[in-house]
Amino acid sequence: MELLEGIESRRSTRGFTGQAVTQETIRKILHAANRSPSFTNSQPWEVAVVVGSKRDELSKILYDLAASGTPSSAEMPYPKSWPQAIAERTKIHGARRFEALGVARDDSLRREEIRLANFKFFNAPCALFFLMDKSLGDWSTMDMGIFIQTLSLAAHGLGLGTCMQASLSNYPQAVRTFLNIPENMKLMVGMSLGYPDESAALNSYKSAREDADSFTRWY
Ligand SMILES: Cc1cc2nc3c(=O)[nH]c(=O)nc-3n(C[C@H](O)[C@H](O)[C@H](O)COP(=O)(O)O)c2cc1C
Repeated sequence: MELLEGIESRRSTRGFTGQAVTQETIRKILHAANRSPSFTNSQPWEVAVVVGSKRDELSKILYDLAASGTPSSAEMPYPKSWPQAIAERTKIHGARRFEALGVARDDSLRREEIRLANFKFFNAPCALFFLMDKSLGDWSTMDMGIFIQTLSLAAHGLGLGTCMQASLSNYPQAVRTFLNIPENMKLMVGMSLGYPDESAALNSYKSAREDADSFTRWY
């Protein structure tokens, strides 16, 4: 796949076939992501790859926490408010997503089902958790984002789909305990990885973008 075509055609996948991803393929993707640039080549990233019965068990732990209404204790706090224009975009995103799925505004049951699908990894056979040392700051957070997008594009180039998921960072202690990850590692975000199920309803939605001219100042 040509680079620009890959960048333009990547989108979040929220329905997977369940077909296993081989360890060789996952290694290939991690190898490509590892070429990401980082501040003074600090390479702050660590990745937990969770498949098979471990994936199923962790999914159940996170699902049960989410379904029982356990409040998020994410270590990268959710924004409390947005500047108005951005708030508008997030609202439109939410509304369009539910509209594409034919879910009514007051259908709280279906909306909750969709939220909880996050914790089933949207049926993906592989879940990734991205971690960095708790002492690191904003520059490393930027590096993590670059790494995660590169990984996502590498996966896409191999015919796989990904969904970056802040929701998978809601219960960091549960993830650390289950995966035996040291306390000093901060859980940044999670990701579902697998082969896209093109027929899945959750994949019917395509996100929009502002025109590039709207965020560019030319001098
Ligand atoms: C940091 C981050 C966190 C996200 N968290 C979630 C999430 O928890 N659940 C989800 O379904 N999508 C999540 N997304 C996906 C975004 O909703 C998606 O990237 C955005 O709507 C644009 O759509 P696209 O990725 O298909 O282009 C997240 C994306 C990012 C970058």
